[in-house]
Amino acid sequence: MIRLSHLTKKFGACTAVDDLCVDVREGEVVGLLGPNGAGKTTTMRMITGFMPPSKGRVSIAGFDLYDHPIQAKRKIGYLPEQLPLYPDMTVCKYLAYVAALKDVPAARTKAAVALAMERTRTGEVADTRISTLSKGFRQRVGLAQAIVHEPPVLVLDEPTSSLDPQQRYEVRELITALKGRHTVILSTHILPEASDVADRVVIINRGKVMAVDTPANLAGRLRACESVRLEIGARAAASAVSPDAVRESLAALPGVLDVHAAIGAAGIITARIDSAAGVDLRAEAAALVTGRGWRLLGLSGDSLSLEEIFLALTRDEREGGA
Ligand SMILES: Nc1ncnc2c1ncn2[C@@H]1O[C@H](COP(=O)(O)OP(=O)(O)OP(=O)(O)O)[C@@H](O)[C@H]1O
Ligand SMILES: [Mg+2]
Repeated sequence: MIRLSHLTKKFGACTAVDDLCVDVREGEVVGLLGPNGAGKTTTMRMITGFMPPSKGRVSIAGFDLYDHPIQAKRKIGYLPEQLPLYPDMTVCKYLAYVAALKDVPAARTKAAVALAMERTRTGEVADTRISTLSKGFRQRVGLAQAIVHEPPVLVLDEPTSSLDPQQRYEVRELITALKGRHTVILSTHILPEASDVADRVVIINRGKVMAVDTPANLAGRLRACESVRLEIGARAAASAVSPDAVRESLAALPGVLDVHAAIGAAGIITARIDSAAGVDLRAEAAALVTGRGWRLLGLSGDSLSLEEIFLALTRDEREGGA
């Protein structure tokens, strides 16, 4: 549905987007994830035809954006990073105005606006002037203007940025509800958002693609080992226990790759057991500790979060640049 091939944008010496190749299938939600300055907005401006690439091509629903710009752009609804809303218009009038710009026939405008408001739950502010809307509602109106002409493709640039957690949750729910009706490419620098909403995540940093995969596969690919964290009371009822004793005992468990144990100020020994991927030692570790009569205060399994994946993937780049 969206095909980006060798998309490149240079601003003087700065390569903002570097040879980006991504195919987005129909109905898919793809998250473009990257830190500030990664090239997300630049990519979206090129996809929507607001900025010409230095190199490469964009195709939307089979239409090449440069050979058939009108047909290709008609397929897109765009929520830019900074949406120019008209402050004096009411929400309803504004949406009707956008519908007209998007060639929605006059006879269908009312129904199109009503549907867009229903899907973005903006009906209650239909007659409110845009200048008096809260940020959350502004963002919903932004989504409404993107979908008012029912485009098959949605391009959403940081749809939840600068919202509070509740508003962010609500906008995320709205986007999830739009799934199935639209093919979506959205950008974010919030990691859980990408894994929640997107079917696939494209991680970019300094214009370069670091990884393209499902959130689950990304986590799996980088999980070289699993670990168990334990907290043990050093002053047990029967006898005191030392980090060395803990380390020695845990290291004897089958499947252990490495053990660290140290004692903290509160007299609590914190231990970490690393094992090979797929080897979960939580039950064995708990049985061993309680079997020795030690006081088990805490136990948790650790696997790599998207945050850690992201740091691991971008570390080389950052260190290279430092
Ligand atoms: N019009 C421009 N002229 C010169 N440089 C630009 C221009 N637009 C973007 N850049 C540069 O291109 C790089 C990528 O910027 P871009 O806005 O695409 O990043 P982003 O991923 O959207 O970041 P953010 O998370 O802050 O929105 C940055 O280094 C930026 O300074
Ligand atoms: Mg941006």
